[in-house]
Order: sequence, then structure tokens, then C-alpha cells
Amino acid sequence: MKNRILIKNASELVTCSGFKAKHGNEMNELHVIDNGAVIIEDGIIKAVGTTEGILGMHRESDFNVIDAEGKAVLPGFVDSHTHFVFGGYRAEEFSWRLRGDKYMDIMKRGGGIASSVKSTREASMQQLLDAGLKRLNSILSFGVTTVEGKSGYGLDFDTEIKQLEVMKELDRMHPLDVVRTFMGAHAVPVEYAGRADDYIDYLIASVLPCVTEKRLAEFCDVFCEENVFSVEQSRKLLTKAKDMGLKLKIHADEIVQLGGAELAAELGAVSADHLLQASNEGIKAMAEGSVISTLLPCTAFSLRESFARGREMIDRGCAVALATDFNPGSCFTESIALVFALACIQMNLSIEEAITALTINGAAAVGREHEIGSIDIGKKADIIILEFPSYKFIPYHVGVSTVEKVIKNGKLVFDKEKGGLLC
Ligand code: NIG
Ligand code: FE
Repeated sequence: MKNRILIKNASELVTCSGFKAKHGNEMNELHVIDNGAVIIEDGIIKAVGTTEGILGMHRESDFNVIDAEGKAVLPGFVDSHTHFVFGGYRAEEFSWRLRGDKYMDIMKRGGGIASSVKSTREASMQQLLDAGLKRLNSILSFGVTTVEGKSGYGLDFDTEIKQLEVMKELDRMHPLDVVRTFMGAHAVPVEYAGRADDYIDYLIASVLPCVTEKRLAEFCDVFCEENVFSVEQSRKLLTKAKDMGLKLKIHADEIVQLGGAELAAELGAVSADHLLQASNEGIKAMAEGSVISTLLPCTAFSLRESFARGREMIDRGCAVALATDFNPGSCFTESIALVFALACIQMNLSIEEAITALTINGAAAVGREHEIGSIDIGKKADIIILEFPSYKFIPYHVGVSTVEKVIKNGKLVFDKEKGGLLC
């Protein structure tokens, strides 16, 4: 009987109702119910309405009751772009960047991603699991209930597979859902220096088949960037990955305007990510091709680059998602609170648009818009309760998490009032 939960008296029940990505103007539609209530049974949302309406049809004594009086209730956030499994750290490199070194120059000198590759190759499965668990706990505390994670710090068969297997195990061990992306094309490894074409062929012939046969990933991603992988090389790898059943993502137009957004539309990618330099044609192609435009404002902030043109993208009809890009180099933060504040303050997204970008559009960016990302009957009960009465407090409390409780699959897994993590 008591696996039934009733959340009642929510000052704002922000449902984000919908089963597909929201584009352009639709991103402002949050579908807020004042004094709202939700019924959860066996981890699934069974009823949504006003507290009066729900209590008129159900007996309170049949439920574990959570009284959300004076609190806003929302769908759990989806962090649809991270690289959270890695060995070692790069604090030294961060200090060089503060002195003026550029991210790509450090990478050209053999630092950057290559430095994390070395540490990740050296790390044992257990070390990666231990670090991964701690990071997932922190990610959860920001109200995230589903997180995407990429390989790409191995760049050889064993380590790429090791990273994906670590994420598979973390998904089993931890309440958070982990969506896995194969990103063997994150950089050209030292063994293939100057031979990016050969490395792409190696990934296609030797790594991709194992990833797909063992079902280790749902997505394939590539760093399509000047001096990393060209549009042609990216197209070749992604076309093969698609043929082999993977969905596609692209690190697109981050540092140089290369045409990654256009390529994402051409290949029917689920998302194009970063987009700091995306062209007008690329923005149009993403809007028309229903490619999710995933923006990562903490990366632009950490790299001291100009922010992506998020406002314009929405005005031109794109479906924008927001994510952290949590990684040891360009953006060492899992703070959804900071992502949110930067999106509103620096990219001029409305608070409503930012919520959509982190819920239903984030869900669509990981291909799960039918299961998560909104408080709708039939979806997983992934729900957060804020410490404050309105969703408007999220960016207002700049960079600080306003999340008090996290319910994952119908289970209370985080409660600030009870000291934090309950799992
Ligand atoms: O999304 N741009 C490429 N990849 C990551 C950074 C990885 C790293 O610096 O370790 C990103 O920013
Ligand atoms: Fe990234």
C-alpha cells in the first residue's frame, strides 16, 4: 500500500506537460497548476491535478504523504551532456588558462584531453567506479534525475570499453539513470598523431562493432572541430554509427564555425551541442530538421568565450536544451544552478524557457521524451521539490541549488531536510 505517494499543496506544480521537444515559442509553456498534487504508484505518475481535485477522488490515508506547502514542484532535471567518467584532474591547466593560454593551444601541445586520456587509461575500473559514484551523488543533489555520460578519455579499445562499462555499472548501482554515449572520436590519440583518417577507420572497424554488439551505448558523438575531426571525417564515422543502430550527437561549432550544426541536420542527429559559433544557416537547419540545440553556458563561461546565441536560436524556432558539459578540462562543474543562471542572465532565455530546456527538451536530447522530462500521467515519477514557493527562485538564487527533495522512480532519494542523500 505504501509504495503509493501523494505530493500535495504544491504552491506551483510545474508540469512541463508534453511528450516531445518544445520548439521556439512553445518553450515558454510550462503548464503550471496552482496548489497542485501528484499521485505516484510503483514509480509511475498516476494522477496530476489540483490538491482539491485529487483529494476529492482519493483517500489521503492510502498514501505516504509529502506536504509541499509553500514549495514549487517540477520534473527532475535532465543533464543531457556530460563527460563525468574520467581519471585525474587538470587544475594546473585551468590555472594556465587563467593566465591567458587558449584551450586549443594547450591541446596542440599535448595537454588538454590527452592528459585526461593518460590518467583514464591508468585508472582501474574500481577507481573510475568510486569517483563516478561520488560525482553522481553530487549531480543528483542539483535535482538531476537522468544524466548522459560520454566515453572519449580512452581513445583505445580497452579504455573506451572500460569507460562505457563503468557507466553501465553506475547506472545499475545508483538511482540516477545514466544514458551512455560512445565518443571514441573525442581527439586523435598520440598513437595516430597526424593520421586522423586512419583513427576514424580504426574506430569503425574495431571499436564500434563491440560497442553496438554489447549494447554499451545508445549514442555516438564526435568532436567536429578544426584540428580535431573534419566535417568529412565526422560524417563518415556518424554514418556508420547510425547504420549500426546508434543515435547521433555532435560537438559542433564550438571554437570555429565548421558546419557541425548543418551536418547534424543532414544526418538526422538527435542533438548538436556547444554551438558557440553556429552559423545562421546552421541555426535554420537545426530548427527545420528538429535537431535539439544543446547549449552549455558553463563551458563558454569557463573558457571565457562568448555565449552561444540561445535567444536567437529560440526566436528562430529551435528546440534548445541546456546541460553542464561536466568534464575535467573545459568545464569542471556539475552545477545546474550555474547553468540556469547563465542561461537567463547571459543568454537572455526566459526562466520558463530555461526550465523547458532542462526538462522535456533535455529528455528529448537523450531520446527519452516519452518516459521522462514532464509530470504527465504514465511517465516515470522523477520529481523535484524546491525550498521556495516559485520556480522563479531558481536563477534568482544565483549559482546555488534551490532543490530540497529529489524523487527518483517514485522514491525519495535526496532530502536537504534530512541531511541530503538518502541512497
Ligand atoms: O565538450 N570540446 C570537447 N570536449 C569537451 C572537453 C573535454 C576536455 O577538455 O576534457 C567539451 O568541452
Ligand atoms: Fe562535451
